Amino acid sequence: MKQIFFAVSFIAALAVITQTACYYDNEVEQYGITPCDTVAQTYNGHIQTIIQANCVSCHGPGGEQEQVPFDTYGSLQPFAASLVDRIHGNNGLGIMPPPSSGTLSDCNKQKIEAWVKAGVPEN
Ligand code: HEC
Repeated sequence: MKQIFFAVSFIAALAVITQTACYYDNEVEQYGITPCDTVAQTYNGHIQTIIQANCVSCHGPGGEQEQVPFDTYGSLQPFAASLVDRIHGNNGLGIMPPPSSGTLSDCNKQKIEAWVKAGVPEN
């Protein structure tokens, strides 16, 4: 009788261990969170698309800030130093884009920061 009890307990314990030990914790599947890829951000590969979608309507031809255009690498690069402050609204500078025209996603902010940190690579 005792042996049967131990055998059953052993099998039950084994079942619990094998069911839980291999639990695959994946936040993408669990919460639908897509990790932000900030590795090796470049202007042509990543940043241009973000700036084009969020900034060039004003900072480009026909925009209200067309005198400060960001539609090419050459026109954006001189402002690299203030970009990170601007996208966070640091130092009392107006946050960009202005809240009335939208917001940058956290991931896009992280990408721009990574790009500036990496030395503003072009391609
Ligand atoms: C709705 C129009 C609009 C959009 C969209 C916009 N800006 Fe601006 N931006 C302005 C205006 C107006 C100014 C000038 C006033 C000021 O400095 O706050 C400005 C100023 C700036 C400056 C300072 C330029 C200088 O002369 O020193 C930077 C840098 C900047 N924006 C970055 C951005 C970035 C980056 C984006 C996109 C993420 C963006 N802006 C989107 C309207 C816009």
